[in-house]
Amino acid sequence: MRLGVDYYPEHWHEDRWKIDAKLMRDAGFSVVRLAEFAWSRLEPSEEVYDFSWLDRAIDTLDDAGIKTVLGTPTAAPPAWMIERYPDILPVDVQGVQQGFGARLHRCFSNPHYREYARAVTVAMVDHYKGWPQVIGWQTDNELGEGPARCVCDTCAERFRQWLKRKYGTLDTLNAQWGAYFWSQEYRAWHQIPAPRQTPYGQVYHNPSLLLDYWRFVSDLIVEFHREQARIVKAIAPHQFVTHNMMGLHCHSYDHFAFGAEVDFVSWDNYPPPTGSVAMAHDLMRGIKGANFWVMEEKSGPTGALKMSPTPRPGQIRMWTWQAVARGADAVVYFRWRSCRGGAEQFWHGILNHDAVPRRRYREIKEVGAEFEQLSPAVAGTTVENDVAIVYSYDQVWAHNIQPQTDGLTYWLHGEKFHSAFSRAGVGVDIIGLSADFSKYKLVIFPSLFLLDEKIANRIVGYIKNGGWALLTARTGVKNWNNLAWDKPLPGLLAECAGIEIDEYDAISNRGQNGVRTADGKEYSVTIWCDIIDLKGAEPLARYTGDFYKDRPAITVNQCGSGRAYYLGTVPEDAWYRDMVQIYVKELSLADYPGLPEGVEASWRVAPDKKLLFLVNITGEERCAPLHGKFRNLLGEPGASEKPVTGQVTMPSYGVRVLLKA
Ligand code: GLA
Ligand code: ZN
Repeated sequence: MRLGVDYYPEHWHEDRWKIDAKLMRDAGFSVVRLAEFAWSRLEPSEEVYDFSWLDRAIDTLDDAGIKTVLGTPTAAPPAWMIERYPDILPVDVQGVQQGFGARLHRCFSNPHYREYARAVTVAMVDHYKGWPQVIGWQTDNELGEGPARCVCDTCAERFRQWLKRKYGTLDTLNAQWGAYFWSQEYRAWHQIPAPRQTPYGQVYHNPSLLLDYWRFVSDLIVEFHREQARIVKAIAPHQFVTHNMMGLHCHSYDHFAFGAEVDFVSWDNYPPPTGSVAMAHDLMRGIKGANFWVMEEKSGPTGALKMSPTPRPGQIRMWTWQAVARGADAVVYFRWRSCRGGAEQFWHGILNHDAVPRRRYREIKEVGAEFEQLSPAVAGTTVENDVAIVYSYDQVWAHNIQPQTDGLTYWLHGEKFHSAFSRAGVGVDIIGLSADFSKYKLVIFPSLFLLDEKIANRIVGYIKNGGWALLTARTGVKNWNNLAWDKPLPGLLAECAGIEIDEYDAISNRGQNGVRTADGKEYSVTIWCDIIDLKGAEPLARYTGDFYKDRPAITVNQCGSGRAYYLGTVPEDAWYRDMVQIYVKELSLADYPGLPEGVEASWRVAPDKKLLFLVNITGEERCAPLHGKFRNLLGEPGASEKPVTGQVTMPSYGVRVLLKA
């Protein structure tokens, strides 16, 4: 395990670097990330590179025992470049070109920008390929952040080439897009636009065109990353390549496709003052089904113009161990010291502008000591779960293009199930649609709005072979090109689910109904109501109100040797918790009885050991029962070897790491 920090030596006088390096070493840091925005210093003018300052910074840090991850600086094209090629600046949906001034002012399709990005990457990697101090690379920075979808003429042209490759002929494209609607049939490729503002805004574009544009941009972002990744792999194959993703915040590209192009995933974690980021960790782990890094971890009050509350005592430590509990092998704090200049002056680092080590530094230093102590025990362990929830970027895009009703988001059911399973102490993997379902006892598929034969067949195959699946409302509505199917819902999965949707009622989050289960329990429901005809399935709950009172709302069907559940509505949270208890019992899932509210339990395992992490994400004391005998590795200062049974008391934001005896 590594602990470290994002450092910007170019922001400080060189005579400060040594002091910083010593403070970092004292805090137990063994890695820094450098240079990801330093293009104007690395290439002060066209093709004039200056790595000398970075060489000295890397050496100064290495002298203190700290290794470097280098960022390619391509997220901040310097002024000279924009002056020479203003068409690098992206164009927004109004057709307005954005100005130089913040960052991300680049169009990924622009050939000049791409050439400069390649050149600086080659120059850097070539320069540092023989440096053992440099262990790896982060491409660019948070790709897909901000106004990601440029609609300039170059993008439009590249989009048309992408469409040609996908559809071959305009006849196929017109048919798959349903372009007969509102006279949108294209007779020449050059007539196809990038989706700018229409008289109805951008949202009233043809939904198939929009979805294809989102996919085109996703491919463009992955391609941009891949180009840099391949440069590293060609010149310095011994150095790793990663990229700092953004948890659940970013939908600009398909993270699962991107994941194939990194050695491991990293992500930037800025937790809100209260609440949990466990789900984002689970998604980031799911991208490659492997451990990951946190490349930026909040270490102070955040804010560019306005600030968030400062992390409470113990909270940074809690976030750090929460990340490890979910599969992080390194945590790198953002940033070392709050910057004196620029838009993020008040996005605080570990140190304030004055550089005096204060509470946040002292707390992180304690984490550093804990990391050193626990690294041998945690090394080589991973997270393994029996339950998965599928996350699909294609579905996110299709839902965002047509949200169906107020309150219904793609991930609504994903989030509700994740939270219900977490409450029960059952670990969940968040996986992609092309992952191997067969290793899970239960897979939750939040609304498969888009469905094609290949995916439907894989799901049916998984169920027939004994898997349990839960499908939700708005499944099987469209084909993969966003054209509505002409089949009874849930379309290609109707037969396996043993149902047919007779009618549906988009009651939105302002509407309410209820359901009653076979054993007489009642739950309120909202947002969406599928009115189900049974075609072999058993009803698990029926509506209690409106004209469809007593019609089925939730069903289960035996399909081959597995089961297909169908949830046609959005019940109150208690239903999810009760359903999870049924799954725990019937599938013998490992749960955590008596887990107090606000305490997260998760496991990291290796063939020869099981580590239990208990993380109190609240600002209050919590008491958790222990099931079995454990050795205390972390949590009670000075008692590391003491066996524990019974129960443990955890202070606010307290963390326990326990080795199962
Ligand atoms: C992101 C970026 C950083 C910085 C922080 C704080 O995570 O990667 O460069 O901008 O946010 O805003
Ligand atoms: Zn563009």
